[in-house]
Amino acid sequence: MKRKLLTLVLSAALAASMLAGCGSKEASSADTAAEETKEETTEAAEETTEEAEPAKAEGGLVGVAMPTKDLQRWNQDGANMQSQLEEAGYEVDLQYANNDIATQVSQIENMIANGCKLLVIASIDGESLGTVLDQAKEADIPVIAYDRLIMNTEAISYYATFDNYMVGTVQGEYIRDALDLDNAEGPFNLEIFTGDPGDNNAKFFYSGAMDVLQPYMDEGKLVVQSGTVEFAEVATANWSSETAQARMEAIIASYYADGTKLDAVLCSNDSTALGVETALDGSYSGEWPIITGQDCDIANVKNMLADKQSMSVFKDTRELAAKTVEMVDAIMQGGEAPVNDTESYDNGTGVIPTYLCEPIFADKDNYKELLIDSGYYTEDDLK
Ligand code: BGC
Repeated sequence: MKRKLLTLVLSAALAASMLAGCGSKEASSADTAAEETKEETTEAAEETTEEAEPAKAEGGLVGVAMPTKDLQRWNQDGANMQSQLEEAGYEVDLQYANNDIATQVSQIENMIANGCKLLVIASIDGESLGTVLDQAKEADIPVIAYDRLIMNTEAISYYATFDNYMVGTVQGEYIRDALDLDNAEGPFNLEIFTGDPGDNNAKFFYSGAMDVLQPYMDEGKLVVQSGTVEFAEVATANWSSETAQARMEAIIASYYADGTKLDAVLCSNDSTALGVETALDGSYSGEWPIITGQDCDIANVKNMLADKQSMSVFKDTRELAAKTVEMVDAIMQGGEAPVNDTESYDNGTGVIPTYLCEPIFADKDNYKELLIDSGYYTEDDLK
């Protein structure tokens, strides 16, 4: 009981500091908030473990490794996973790695050493966990890849994510329809920003969107003035807003400073969109372009309401957590976990059985129903 109360208080503190941290994208205050939250979380984990020692949760200890507190969605993922796993009777070791691969590796090593019965991992770099996951496999610890697939290791039992290709398709179709590419004469100017090259999802978002847009580029109706189109050229290390901002500023200076109109920017997610929007705010004087995003981060929903971002894609992290907890439960009871895709996600050792949750188109017309009525945010969060 005491532990439950403590957990509730800590979850509230986590949620409060998470929202505070995400209201502003100022690097320093976000970092400070992230650091404070990290400390609280670490203390929380320690205190929870101490309190729980005499009567261990029956389900056993589950390690949850998250990439970073800097982006809003992972705070939500971590908080949802923790509360839902605890609700289901598990003890949770939740760790954030500050987007540092070595930190994530050592956190996972510690989870294994501390006797975790199962690992849920949202990787920073899908290619870098093979060695530590060999240890998990040797110790017979099942691993669920969470949101991002972990590549080239046989240690992964299951993958739980959203339909990443569909996210890209929804973004590409939005640009196609908003510019009326099938009827309008054009040509229209487009720039492209995708995510971290080490994140397998980024390739799915990119190809989902490009499969829709490439034919219009081939016929010359869509033109990328900067000439940067290939995945490697439009990738954004660590999905960083600052990196996207700097690249957009350079593109504006070279190709759009003479009054050339920028019609659309394909951004694979909200953090890259935020950087692009800041750059446009600072140095682009033409008509505001169509801009896509993903995640419905608070700063971006605010920008949608201010007509600075056209759309986002809502991925309800509560739903992904619930599905992952179902998987954990099934595995822990020696059964098969629920999956709905056994074709799309090959991690280099074979296809990983996957559950795909559905991403949902969001804009300022449906945000209330999606985000407020469902209890994801309050109106106050968006002020
Ligand atoms: C997630 C996106 C997120 C991005 C940056 C991706 O792996 O699927 O939802 O925006 O990482 O954190």
